[in-house]
Amino acid sequence: MGERQESGPLTNRKRRSTVSGGRVSLKGNSKSGGNGTSENGHSHGGSKKANDEKTTHSTTRSGKEKGRSDEGYERLGCHKLQESLLSSASGYSNYRGILNWCVVMLVLSNARLFLENLIKYGILVDPIQIVSLFLKDPYSWPAPCLVIASNIFSLSALYIEKRLAVGSFSEKVGLMLHTMNLTIILCFPVAVVWFVSSMTPVGGVFALSIYTVLFLKLYSYKDVNKWCREIRQAKARTLSRSLSYPVVDKANGEVLQTQVTYPGNLTLRDLYYFIFAPTLCYELNFPRSPRIRKRFLLRRLFEMLFFMQLLIGLIQQWMVPTIQNSMKPFKDMDFSRIIERLLKLAVPNHLIWLIFFYWFFHSTMNFVAELMQFGDREFYRDWWNSETVTYFWQNWNIPVHKWCIRHFYKPILKKGVNKWTAQTAVFFASAFFHEYLVSIPLKMFRLWAFMGMMAQIPLAWLVGRFLTGNYGNAAVWISLIIGQPIAILMYFHDYYVLNYEESQVAEVA
Ligand SMILES: CC(C)(COP(=O)(O)OP(=O)(O)OC[C@H]1O[C@@H](n2cnc3c(N)ncnc32)[C@H](O)[C@@H]1OP(=O)(O)O)[C@@H](O)C(=O)NCCC(=O)NCCS
Repeated sequence: MGERQESGPLTNRKRRSTVSGGRVSLKGNSKSGGNGTSENGHSHGGSKKANDEKTTHSTTRSGKEKGRSDEGYERLGCHKLQESLLSSASGYSNYRGILNWCVVMLVLSNARLFLENLIKYGILVDPIQIVSLFLKDPYSWPAPCLVIASNIFSLSALYIEKRLAVGSFSEKVGLMLHTMNLTIILCFPVAVVWFVSSMTPVGGVFALSIYTVLFLKLYSYKDVNKWCREIRQAKARTLSRSLSYPVVDKANGEVLQTQVTYPGNLTLRDLYYFIFAPTLCYELNFPRSPRIRKRFLLRRLFEMLFFMQLLIGLIQQWMVPTIQNSMKPFKDMDFSRIIERLLKLAVPNHLIWLIFFYWFFHSTMNFVAELMQFGDREFYRDWWNSETVTYFWQNWNIPVHKWCIRHFYKPILKKGVNKWTAQTAVFFASAFFHEYLVSIPLKMFRLWAFMGMMAQIPLAWLVGRFLTGNYGNAAVWISLIIGQPIAILMYFHDYYVLNYEESQVAEVA
């Protein structure tokens, strides 16, 4: 490659110098001729002028002829030293057209699949069915009741913090009460989902997700307030002034921003701002956007409603029949058919996952943030360019990743645990919550979600060790496209066997 680059410019230079050399001499001639004409015209007589004109004319003619012959040479040569666009040595990188082609192909092939689906199953989208997914009995609303009840735990956390701030509780008692509060947050909804018969699986996932988010938020609330007390104590040792009043920064007599300081933050308003804010990490002074942009808010709201409908429609029309059709190959243990079903499911599942990503991390989170004037909008980074599994987990879900780093990973590292063990511990906790959100609502423990999450550690090692660049990126995409439908099929198969086949067996008996 180096050799080629060297020889290219060299040859070009040679050719150019030949051509320009001719031009220089040509120009020189015509110029001198031109000047001579004007000078001679003024200083000499008519005969000489005619003579000179003759000379000039002949010089110009010879110049023109030479130019023409040069053009002729140029016409004869039409090649130059250059690489083909698709070879890497060309340095070409504009593949916009190819990307558009991919999109067109994707739309066309999916349109075919969509038509095939419609012809085979008819219209399966049913808005009434969505209500029944959340409610079994119209007079019993266990999931919304559970969500309302979660306020008790938030208020308990605030009460404990207030007592700790004034010194009524010791740090030990505070930690014990917080631990109890957090443990109940995880256990209480499990009991309700498990024992209340009117709770549906979808209602269960919804309620448990809210409780999981609350658990992570209140854990962060506890930690940050503790850090504030530690700073206060450290400062009290050196400074005698109190930090318990809001500090107001002023510039040119104007109020810029009210900075809340500990324990001025321990109010209902502050706690509920954090609970509704699109973040899991507590802070006393969140960055705030200056105003609510109405057009931005309406766009996000429209996207939220549209993509939610689309998601539900695609699940009903595309996912459910494909999963249902997969049961027979599973029962017969027909491996080639199982793989065929898996690949068939991978397409709608992946499309739905991508739409979910946009709906949740872009539309919904930005909508809530805009409404609350919450300034930090980094809910995701460019995970789609991940060349390693590690990069994917660092960038796809920023609120969870930030929480993991701040409240779990760094505290373990500070205790002297090595990096590998700390990372395994984070993935273990994440695997626990993934399993918690699936197993409890389905009322069966199969550990597929847990294993899927734990498998990320060896997968990250394998991809990082053996693949780089585009190959690494392709490996991450394949793991996303194939990994999820495997887990979904496993759960659906087990749920089907447990709930439908057993009831059929019971009916026959
Ligand atoms: C496990 C996990 C936290 C590791 O994250 P990572 O970014 O690869 O970890 P790194 O070792 O590169 O370091 C992260 C941070 O710790 C710091 N750090 C590293 N070693 C440290 C040490 N010994 N002491 C103190 N800090 C240290 C780094 O400086 C870095 O800080 P920064 O974020 O301020 O730059 C991450 O992979 C993760 O979040 N996994 C779980 C994701 C998940 O389950 N998401 C659920 C989505 S549904």
